[in-house]
Amino acid sequence: MNKNLRKAIIAGNWKMNKTRPEAKELIEAIKPLAANAGCEVVVCVPFTNLETAVEAVKGTNIHVGAQNCHFEKSGAFTGEISADMLKEVGVEYVVLGHSERRQYFGETDETVNKRLKAALAAELKPIVCIGELLWERECGITEEVLGKQCKLDFYGLTADEMKKCVIAYEPVWAIGTGKTATADQAEEACAYIRSVIAKMFDSATADAVTVQYGGSMNAKNAAELLSKVNVDGGLIGGASLKAPDFGEIIKAASV
Ligand code: PGA
Repeated sequence: MNKNLRKAIIAGNWKMNKTRPEAKELIEAIKPLAANAGCEVVVCVPFTNLETAVEAVKGTNIHVGAQNCHFEKSGAFTGEISADMLKEVGVEYVVLGHSERRQYFGETDETVNKRLKAALAAELKPIVCIGELLWERECGITEEVLGKQCKLDFYGLTADEMKKCVIAYEPVWAIGTGKTATADQAEEACAYIRSVIAKMFDSATADAVTVQYGGSMNAKNAAELLSKVNVDGGLIGGASLKAPDFGEIIKAASV
């Protein structure tokens, strides 16, 4: 990453894992590993763990995120949680448009865009996930897919709002599969995403936006991925559930 322009963000995406006591235990184990971090450290926990996590990180440099929010403020939306509700609990970040939400729960670029605007209005920091499927990469349309997702997901934002967003480049074929994009593939995609943001807004906005890599990032491969100039951190699933591994990734992002 370019440390002169941006600070790395290492965010754990716990997905549907950990009971409340387990969440507390994991955060307690992460605390000493994050204490001297030279990067921002975030844990994105299930809704039921948010209060526990917010309480557990008090007085530390660890930030708490949720894994989704709805676009309406309130109403008849059974099973959904609004951005204001997250804010009220003390949440700072929210993951939006994760490929598992798109794949299993019918989320589209249009709803991601609406959720993003709601998150920004509630002063949450959004982590917006984009990335191509394997067959899209094989067909040679990775750039088209990433460009389209950026244009649709960030449609209608001001440059100031765009600067508040974190983008997570997560090739769908690398998520939970153990197949990591090579550092060069990650760099190429993250640089392309930044070039799209520069065209949509301006180069100062593109330089300011954090672009993370996500997809089987772990203690072993993190340093190489994070050494790339356009890779500003990571969104980490599996490896964020083990404190020592997450600690190694934090260390790799801190040098
Ligand atoms: P993974 O998940 O690290 O387990 O591949 C990443 C993510 O889905 O954000």
